[in-house]
Amino acid sequence: MTSEELAEIGLRFEVGGEIATITLDRPDKRNAQTFATWSALARIGRTLPEHVRVVVVRGEGPSFSAGIDLRMFTTKGLPGQGSFASVAALDGETFLARITEAQQGFLWLRRPDIVSIAVVQGHAIGAGFQLALSCDLRILADDAKFCMKEAALGLVPDLTGTKPLVELVGVAKAVEICLTARTVGAEEALRLGLAERVVPRERLDEAVGELAAALLTTDRAAAAATKRLLLGAADRTLEEQSAAERAEQAERLRALFGAKGAARRDGSAQS
Ligand code: ACO
Repeated sequence: MTSEELAEIGLRFEVGGEIATITLDRPDKRNAQTFATWSALARIGRTLPEHVRVVVVRGEGPSFSAGIDLRMFTTKGLPGQGSFASVAALDGETFLARITEAQQGFLWLRRPDIVSIAVVQGHAIGAGFQLALSCDLRILADDAKFCMKEAALGLVPDLTGTKPLVELVGVAKAVEICLTARTVGAEEALRLGLAERVVPRERLDEAVGELAAALLTTDRAAAAATKRLLLGAADRTLEEQSAAERAEQAERLRALFGAKGAARRDGSAQS
């Protein structure tokens, strides 16, 4: 997609070296998200340059994101995108396909070959909170506020946020947060494991730069293999996880010290 097309949707996408930055860029509407936002995010994921290792997701202006564009709740809806009423009128399969497509905008951020970082200042509500949850890591400004507002609006969080939320804070705390739709401030988020770090707002960019630089110091293939292991750990038994570790390590050792890997390390010619 061209930068003009992205701008129309309220997004920016920039690549600098091994770091790509996605910016929600509709600050006057607090970076409210639409189906077009999610389709564009999915497209960015599908076409991400291969050399990118770190993906930073941030929001322009006072808030990370105020969630879904509230015009979806009106009868008129969003120009060219319909409303919840028109989505609800779709047949079952088309309806589910629409949500599946939206979820693709979030799911790729967990890919093992990249590390994604959400940079959150101000409000991250509903779809905004879920976008932050879909990233591997979260760096927060001290004014960050998370809120899973869906249940208050008669909806469920369906943009892939429920699993990472439960994994981070546990079922009981996730139930409490979602079913009260209360606000979780930055300090509490840090305490609950919803953030890796909280910094004064003016230090946000610096903190993200430091984290991204640190992530780039490790070997790319080893980092991807380690992320695969870590992401799969919760769903495996200890024995299965041990087997997965052995398999990944065998692959690593072959790459590093097998005939071809050794030749590469020596700088000698390969056939
Ligand atoms: N959709 C569309 N427009 C929005 C949204 C939204 N979700 N959130 C804010 N805006 C617009 C406002 O209408 C206003 O527009 P205007 O200047 O044309 O009147 C502008 O953004 C600024 O909003 P304010 O409320 O004035 O900004 P403030 O910084 O005081 O408050 C806050 C920010 C707390 C995020 C507030 O705007 C808000 O509560 N928004 C709605 C949040 C919400 O309910 N989201 C849905 C969650 S559920 C889900 O995502 C599935």
